[in-house]
Amino acid sequence: MQIAVLGTGEVGRRLASRFVEVGHRVVLGSRTADNAEAHAWAGETGSAHGTFAEAAAFGEVVVNATGGLVTKAVLEAAGAQNLAGKVVIDVSNALDFSNGFPPDAVTFDGVGVAEMIQRDFPQARVVKTLNTMNNKVMARPDLVPGDHVVFLSGDDAEAKATTAGLLRDMGWRDAQILDLGGISTSRATEQFVILWVHMNGGLGDGSGMWNIAVQQGASED
Ligand SMILES: NC(=O)c1ccc[n+]([C@@H]2O[C@H](COP(=O)([O-])OP(=O)(O)OC[C@H]3O[C@@H](n4cnc5c(N)ncnc54)[C@H](OP(=O)(O)O)[C@@H]3O)[C@@H](O)[C@H]2O)c1
Repeated sequence: MQIAVLGTGEVGRRLASRFVEVGHRVVLGSRTADNAEAHAWAGETGSAHGTFAEAAAFGEVVVNATGGLVTKAVLEAAGAQNLAGKVVIDVSNALDFSNGFPPDAVTFDGVGVAEMIQRDFPQARVVKTLNTMNNKVMARPDLVPGDHVVFLSGDDAEAKATTAGLLRDMGWRDAQILDLGGISTSRATEQFVILWVHMNGGLGDGSGMWNIAVQQGASED
């Protein structure tokens, strides 16, 4: 599959690298074409490099790996026409550190980042996933033992199936993929990140090499 990864931060590089490793073709997108650092990173990850618009035009699937506070600007630069009809996988969180640590999880007129993308780019088929864990775990779930979970939120069932396929390519098992429902459910996962921050602080080394699991009991009825 041809995948655009918008964002050259740790998350974008990690996902780009893993997608290439499992057989996909990736263009890593950044603001400018002459970003030498991003160009070098693309080389390291085995992907190509281009502007947000060039990457999005290339992608059959477009991954948003930029901060939630700049996501709208990034997707506007990518171009609504380059997102139309495509699966847009949003792995972002919108964190405001202006009051120090811990950050606040920001909403946009009451909605989360993924909902905002779906609202403002209605022809995109937005799926929220992977934002509830460290990027190393996103790309290599086998690094954490057990049936720890990754959430899916989105209004388009086919887009969620495509996304689940990419998750499986990275090593996620069906038992670990928990479909929460429509895109509005993603807001709760974006708010979860604050709990993640506190848990990470409380888990000893703060390495992020952990994830949440769901244990279900038998119904009493
Ligand atoms: N770190 C984790 O393990 C983790 C886990 C879960 C979710 N997340 C979420 O994943 C996302 C990516 O995080 P990250 O740390 O990898 O990357 P990041 O530093 O948040 O984002 C880097 C990208 O943002 C672009 N950018 C920065 N300022 C911009 C602006 N004003 N306008 C347009 N674009 C701008 C940069 O463009 P250039 O390339 O042009 O510089 C770069 O491509 C975030 O939403 C984060 O909350 C992170």
